[in-house]
Amino acid sequence: MCGIVGYIGKRDAYPVILNGLKRLEYRGYDSAGIALYDGSTIQLCKTKGKVADLEKKVSEEMATKGNLGIGHTRWATHGIPNDINSHPHFSNSGDLVIIHNGIIENYASIKKELINRGYTFYSDTDTEVLVNLIEDIKKNENVKLGKAVQIALNQVVGAYAIALFDKNKPDEIVVAKLGSPLAIGIGTDEFFVASDASPFIEFTNNAIYLEDEEMAIIRLVREIKIRKVKDDSIVAPYIQELQLNIEQIEKGGYDHFMLKEIYEQPSVIKDTYRGRLLADKGIIRLGGLEDYIEKFINADRIIIVACGTSWHAGLVAEYIFEDWARIPVEVEYASEFRYRNPVITEKDVVIAISQSGETADTLAAIKLAKEKGAFVYGICNVVGSTISRATHSGTYTHAGPEIGVASTKAFTTQITVLTMIALKLAKIKGTISQTDYMVHLRELELIPTKVESALSKNDAIEKIALLFKDATNFLYLGRGYNFPVALEGALKLKEISYIHAEGYPAAEMKHGPIALIDEHMPIVVIAINSNHYEKVVSNIQEIKSRKGKIIAVVTEGDTVVRELADYIMEVPYTPETLSPLVTTIPLQLLSYHIALMLNRNVDQPRNLAKAVTVE
Ligand code: AGP
Repeated sequence: MCGIVGYIGKRDAYPVILNGLKRLEYRGYDSAGIALYDGSTIQLCKTKGKVADLEKKVSEEMATKGNLGIGHTRWATHGIPNDINSHPHFSNSGDLVIIHNGIIENYASIKKELINRGYTFYSDTDTEVLVNLIEDIKKNENVKLGKAVQIALNQVVGAYAIALFDKNKPDEIVVAKLGSPLAIGIGTDEFFVASDASPFIEFTNNAIYLEDEEMAIIRLVREIKIRKVKDDSIVAPYIQELQLNIEQIEKGGYDHFMLKEIYEQPSVIKDTYRGRLLADKGIIRLGGLEDYIEKFINADRIIIVACGTSWHAGLVAEYIFEDWARIPVEVEYASEFRYRNPVITEKDVVIAISQSGETADTLAAIKLAKEKGAFVYGICNVVGSTISRATHSGTYTHAGPEIGVASTKAFTTQITVLTMIALKLAKIKGTISQTDYMVHLRELELIPTKVESALSKNDAIEKIALLFKDATNFLYLGRGYNFPVALEGALKLKEISYIHAEGYPAAEMKHGPIALIDEHMPIVVIAINSNHYEKVVSNIQEIKSRKGKIIAVVTEGDTVVRELADYIMEVPYTPETLSPLVTTIPLQLLSYHIALMLNRNVDQPRNLAKAVTVE
């Protein structure tokens, strides 16, 4: 997830773009850059670091005049954060310059073709490939920039929000959108382009939000024209009058980053498997894994080290890996692992899971594992983070920046990556049938839609939250793949509402916690259709006989638990292996609403930090 800004019009472009980038930093902040047309050529400056670093570098290196320009603040997906991988990117001729938010999945094959045609590449990015593809088409087809963009975008697979211009035609900006957001601000004698309206809302509240596979050639001298990328047909522009303030725009219109990130899960789960999961072809392709498959296949065991929510994702992975890839898995709190003098050999594979990529205990566990000869694989959300650089290889989740301290979309995207790894290994080892393999791949592709469905129950969940917001203790119970989800649900409630909550394997209740149950105790039970359903139903009956208040997560259409529970939160049917990706949704929403009703600081709960970089 990156932030893009463009401007063409009566003002100096630089201050508009720079301030716009500052407003978009929540979308990505590992590097930034700006390109300005100064009346004869393109001035470009870019740097690793934040927008403030860019501002300093511009003040030292670049003239800032001109009323046409584009700027970018990056959240790396291809190519680590450094100066050369930052946007904007020039085409080989230096005539074109582009910024891009998204992922071009087939960039490698296009890059190879362009190299054969004599193009040179300086960065590792998919974006530099796109701008040179556009240049190649513009030259060889002898067409204008807009037409070249339209042809090029019909050759790429992936997601994009792009803005680019040609120094030989400095009266226009060309933009296009698929999968990533792009808004056009309509001013008087000026146009703005951005990932959302925050960079231009102070200048105009008239905006056009491009739809997927739409593009626009923005010229000052005429009305804006929206076209379909597919066939170049004209689309009537729909100009909206925005009533949002800047803070609301940054949160995508949601009241909190946490809620925005909960609702981003369908799209970021899709972004995480995009280009990696080709279900129809039965292919899972993970760049960081391909060269190390043998390490996993021949491993004596996999040790997963992580903290907090990432540790819960590891627990889910234990079920998936052992169930399907038949590889022994141990899941360890990184903080315990690093100090208990563990037995580790070269035959061990360690998977380190971390959203921030900066958690001190997890980093220390990685160092210990490497010292003892283990192969260490990272699953991080921040490209170029310390943990991602400390591991031998890894796979990034494409969740985009997670601003809310309570981890939500990181959890589901981590599980998405772990599931793809486990299924790939199972296929190679032959421990999963072709049928089961293909079913799981297709079901994984359906997860975003199922998460959408679970999110649609928000209002009913909010009503339940109102009934239990004053409880002082909660129990969360689950079995099998959903035992870790019970732990995660309890953690979410604890950390943002400050209500004590415990997660337990449902069967463990009889070994102590059942003594806690009375009419004041709400118990959240994950009771979806699964191999454990009958046993969970009997657990619910045990709770009921002790007057516990039961809030059950059930599969849509359930008729049995519906009669036993006091309240239900429905999710669509999902095979148990993938069910944590869906059952966690109502638990996230329940904790969010309870915390809100208690007037907690949902995005920055007391005593917590987003990245625990100290012991
Ligand atoms: C989860 O909601 C918490 N914010 C916390 O437990 C977090 O998961 C933990 O600190 C690990 O962080 P990491 O994934 O960035 O390593």
